Amino acid sequence: MDPRPVGIFDSGAGGLSVLRAFRQLAPNERVIYFADTAYFPYGPRPAAEIRKRAFAIVHRLLEADVKLIIVACNTASAAAITDLREAFPVPFVGMVPGLKPAAGASASGKVAILATDGTFDGALYNRVVEEFGRGTRITNIPGHGLAELVERGQSGTPLARAAVREALASSVQAGVDTVVLGCTHYHFLQSDIAAEFPGLAIVDTSEAVARRAVSVLKEAGLDAPPGQEGVLDLIVTGDRDAFHGVMEQLGFPHRKAATNA
Ligand code: DGL
Repeated sequence: MDPRPVGIFDSGAGGLSVLRAFRQLAPNERVIYFADTAYFPYGPRPAAEIRKRAFAIVHRLLEADVKLIIVACNTASAAAITDLREAFPVPFVGMVPGLKPAAGASASGKVAILATDGTFDGALYNRVVEEFGRGTRITNIPGHGLAELVERGQSGTPLARAAVREALASSVQAGVDTVVLGCTHYHFLQSDIAAEFPGLAIVDTSEAVARRAVSVLKEAGLDAPPGQEGVLDLIVTGDRDAFHGVMEQLGFPHRKAATNA
């Protein structure tokens, strides 16, 4: 048993999808959610810059004595997870686009991966494609502007519907029957995608990642004492009020107590 908090970070609101799933599975874990909104979006940034941010964030989370860190961002995982694991003596849970479940689920054998440029450019994604992509026709779709819509609180709007239509229409017309949400922000576009493409299967890995974190905690004997209150703290590097606004729009109850990094 270990009462210390778990750290979860993302460039912004995307990782809230993992946070929500994690809190449902482990309601008495304390959590520090780090939103690096001053550096949002990560997607177009060079890997070296994202790696630098990831190291700075991990230092800050370790100062707060976290016992495990979830990199709730595909782009940051692509740029930094291997180096983070080598550099810090704390367990990390990272993310890769869910090609494996998508390849298993697709009837047409045609799958689209929606992710950032940073994720597509990383070695991690190439490894996933090599390992699980055989026999599947994969279309990589860089979701330009989609994470920004979510971060501006515009998921569930006609603007978001138009943006997902534009991103996915030609692939769906070409026979893609499954789309992988390879960026945590896109979790919050699920209902827009479902409304535009009713027959399309959507693969989202936020719950699987949360489950993985819970089992790593259990295996290492690091899970929280049963009666502990699962307090949530926020660290926001950019505009705190704006972030609170997005949290509210995405349906997150919160205390207005975020600290700056
Ligand atoms: N949420 C991040 C991810 O999962 C990307 C958003 C961004 O571009 O910052 O890849």
